[in-house]
Amino acid sequence: MLENKTVYLNGSYLPLPDAKISVLDRGFLFGDGIYEVIPSYYGHLFHLDDHLERLENSLAAIRLANPHSRSEWRQIFTPLLDASQNQYVYLQLTRGVAPKRDHAFPEAIAPTVFAMVSAIVPFAGKHTGIQAVTMDDSRWKLCHAKAITLLANILHRQSAIDQDAAEAILIKDNIVTEGAASNVFVVLDGCLLTPPKGNDILPGITRDVILDLARKNNIQCAEQRISAEQLSLASEVWVTSSTREIIPVVTLDGKPVGAGKPGAVWLEMDAIFQNYKQSLL
Ligand code: PDD
Repeated sequence: MLENKTVYLNGSYLPLPDAKISVLDRGFLFGDGIYEVIPSYYGHLFHLDDHLERLENSLAAIRLANPHSRSEWRQIFTPLLDASQNQYVYLQLTRGVAPKRDHAFPEAIAPTVFAMVSAIVPFAGKHTGIQAVTMDDSRWKLCHAKAITLLANILHRQSAIDQDAAEAILIKDNIVTEGAASNVFVVLDGCLLTPPKGNDILPGITRDVILDLARKNNIQCAEQRISAEQLSLASEVWVTSSTREIIPVVTLDGKPVGAGKPGAVWLEMDAIFQNYKQSLL
């Protein structure tokens, strides 16, 4: 049974069960589209401009024109939000419905624009920490674009779940990239490290907020390449995302990380992050 909530599709607000798209949509046929996930805390969209800037970059990476200005996007999302809840906006744009299946871009079609809001359910493993497993990053060279083409990511996540872990930490040429649906931080020799931006990671908004908060709160930090060996020696490992926030990894590949429980730097940063969220309401 589909939830009967209101969603946005191509200019209209309608009940979810009535939101339908053509089987010729290029998102369905080719995974030809991009998406965003934007938290809304009690009706306040978190770092909306940063999410919309990343949206612009993702659209540019796949050569799809942005159909709306930043203020129009805000206007589209606002009626979907509930000021009494923590939610996230899921926004998806595809290249649209082409007259026939052809790999080449179709001429002059309108993109499909879909947005819906879901409750943010506090992540169960947050306070105890989670298990994670490393695996070889099988993805492509456009990981900086938030593409809907997520087959590799879902296979990585499922492989982690099949091993009783909550997240896969991906390694490319012996270097940590990111999680299947998260960015990675480690604490090594007392310094908080995260991989630098590039086309092998999604530039996470949560990641940027954490780096900014660390700098403002005198937590030593750096954007630096992290080898698989450094990952295994880290005293803390975290995975971060808009929907789960900052999650400590307490077991990596079956071995305890640090003392095998959420570390002191995570405790400090999580408190700073929660205060910061509160300050924006
Ligand atoms: N994913 N890296 C990947 C591959 C991701 O899919 C995500 C988030 C992140 C973290 O980005 P941010 O902090 O902006 O959420 C990093 C979202 C939540 C998703 O796919 O549902």
